[in-house]
Formats: sequence, structure tokens, C-alpha cells
Amino acid sequence: MEKDRNFDEIIDRSGTASMKWEPQVLSNVFGEGKEDLLPLWVADMDFQCPAVIRQAMEKRLNHRVYGYSLIDPGYFPALISWYKRRHQFEIREDWIKTTPGVVPAVNYIIQRFTQPGDKVLIQPPVYYPFARAILNNGRRIAENPLRIEHGQYRMDFEDLKEKVKEPRVKLAILCSPHNPVGRVWTKEELEMFGEICLENGVLVTSDEIHCDLVMPGFKHVCFASISQKFARNSITCLAASKTFNLAGLQQSSIVMPNPDIRDEMTIQIEKLGFTNGIGGTLFGAVAAAAAYNEAESWLDNLIEYLYDNYMYLKTFLEKELPGVKVYDLQGTYLVWVDFSAVRPDGTERIRLLEEKAGVGLDHGEWFGDNGAGFERINIACPRSILERAAESIVGALQGGS
Ligand SMILES: Cc1ncc(COP(=O)(O)O)c(C=O)c1O
Repeated sequence: MEKDRNFDEIIDRSGTASMKWEPQVLSNVFGEGKEDLLPLWVADMDFQCPAVIRQAMEKRLNHRVYGYSLIDPGYFPALISWYKRRHQFEIREDWIKTTPGVVPAVNYIIQRFTQPGDKVLIQPPVYYPFARAILNNGRRIAENPLRIEHGQYRMDFEDLKEKVKEPRVKLAILCSPHNPVGRVWTKEELEMFGEICLENGVLVTSDEIHCDLVMPGFKHVCFASISQKFARNSITCLAASKTFNLAGLQQSSIVMPNPDIRDEMTIQIEKLGFTNGIGGTLFGAVAAAAAYNEAESWLDNLIEYLYDNYMYLKTFLEKELPGVKVYDLQGTYLVWVDFSAVRPDGTERIRLLEEKAGVGLDHGEWFGDNGAGFERINIACPRSILERAAESIVGALQGGS
């Protein structure tokens, strides 16, 4: 195995201003005295990125001049080719605008396509920066909670039909694959969702940042690839940052097949003052191009490793903590676990996990009311770290307080 595929290697990230590991951030997020938690929270990976990406950045670095730059011309064809070959989504270059992250893009979309007081629909439990973006921009949240049916999360289409009838609901944010519940939505589910939004004049923002992290047996369907009418009624947010662990490089894209939507976004991007209308970064684009062109086999190895980590965690937790349910991981590297049967009291569960187990996890309550009792566990780390965390969790929750 090539060195850059050694996912077992523990790389010390201390002193690198890593958001996941930095003691000050841990203390801000989890509270004073929690600086040393073993972090399996924020969605980045503790793996080195593929060597081909480092080499491409080194080549650019060695040029020694980093003045105002356009997006590396290799970025667009690399992205287009990737989506065509991996997802059968045919993107035209003029549909793409670069952004410095998907969360910033979601904010710009809310700012441009809704008015203060309008409602934006989300499907909790869901990635909490969506709610933050809606509220920070003076908009209101419309909730279409996911439902658990036969042990699996599903969209509630009857509820969706009711929610989008309200004229103030102007935008819906689709999380596909879904963070934190790990669902990869089927084409049929996306069709139902898309039709209901379309019939009610609701624009769809499809956040597909996790689309490459899909487990064996599942297939991601890009929302805009389903039909021309969905393409015209949507903005897709894409990035190589989750897939190849490049989040610090602040590079992502939005894809807008509808020219009217593009014109609106051009105005918004102009207002944001990005140099040359470019929202990405010099090294971010170089890295993403190299990733899309040359790191496909690394990704296939990564998925195998993540899937093994998932199977280990599921087997271990469900055996050692009877009643705990580890949900299917269809996509993402974020495992959604229901601990309510062993620790019905959420405050007590969180206390035991943080103070006794010493792990920093994303607590289910952060993702919405229907996340209560759950934890989201980031398994994108060397197996030995995951084992250490899992054993600590079991030790803390098994043994009472
Ligand atoms: C669904 C989802 N969207 C967006 C992001 C973050 O995107 P970015 O770092 O590009 O702002 C994450 C990161 O965890 C995510 O899970």
C-alpha cells in the first residue's frame, strides 16, 4: 500500500490550528475544562490528503509568486469530468460559480433568494449551520422533520406538502447525502421532494458536499441531474473538501443551470466584493483539480477504510450497550447513534460522555429537537483512535455514573 493510503497512521495535529483538535475551540464548544477531549466531532478527517494533491500544491508553491489569481483553469474541467464520471451529472462550465465554502454559499443564497421574514425549509435533524444561516439573516425556519420508519429515516412528504403551502416558504435546503442521519436519498425520494417544491414555487438548494462519501451498495443521485425542471429550480453546492480533507482551503462551487438564477447570484457575489468575482482560493482550486483528476483510487480506498470503521463501531456499541441503535451509514463518515435507551436523560448522557469517557462528539440535540438522545460520531480517524473512543464510551455508559 502506498504511504498516502495509510489510514492507520496517527498524525499529531496539535499546534496546527486544527479546529477539531485545538484546546481553545474544544473548551469554547464543550465548556471549560474540556480542552483535552478526544475529538470525534467536526466533520474533517484525521487522515493526510492524497500525495498527488500535495504535489500539485507544492508545484504552485514553488513558483514563489501568489498575487491576485484567477481560479486555476484546470479546476473547471476537472470538476466537470468528475461529476460526469462518478455521478452522471453533466455540468456546463458557465453554470458554475466558485465560493469559499458551502456554508458561505448557503448564506449568499438565503440573502439573494429570500427576504427578511421569509421562511426557509430544512429537514431536522440536520446540519445545524443551516438553521444558523437562516436566523442570522433574519429569515425564519420552516421545519419538515425526518421520520423514523422501520428503523430508517425517511422524508415526511405529507408534512412537506403542508409546510410549502405557506407562501412565505421561499427556499428549501436539501442535505444530500444527509448529515447527520447518513441517508443517501433515492431517486424516487428526490423526485417526490423536487416535485412538491416545484409545484409550490420553492427554490431548492441542494447541499451535496458529502456526495462522494457513499458506502458500498448505495448510489448518490445529484438532484439537478434528475430532470431539466429540477435543474432549473435548484442551486447545487459542491466541494472536494469533505471527500479529500481539504476544508481549510476554502474552495467550493455552486452550480446553477438556470440563467436567471445565475444572474441573481452574480449580483450577490458582486456585492460580496470577491476579487474578480471569484469566491474560491488559489491553492484551493489547484488542490481540487488535482484531487478530481488524480485521487480517485485513493477515495475508493478511503471508503473501504471508513466502511470497516463503521462496521467495527456498530458491532461494538450494539454488543456492549444493548439497546443502543447505530443507524445505517449509507453516506458521509458521520455515524448517528441513538443512546436514549441506555441514557434517557440527555444531560446525564452528555456529562458521562464528556467527563467520564472524555470524548467530544456532536450531540444530537444540536441538530434539532428530534435529535435528542443521539450522538453523531465522526469515524474518519485511524482505527486505533476510534477504538479508544468507543471503549471509553462503553466504559462510561455501561458503568452508570
Ligand atoms: C452538509 C454540510 N454542508 C456543508 C458543510 C461545510 O461546508 P464548508 O466547509 O464548505 O463551508 C458541512 C461540513 O460538515 C456539511 O456537513
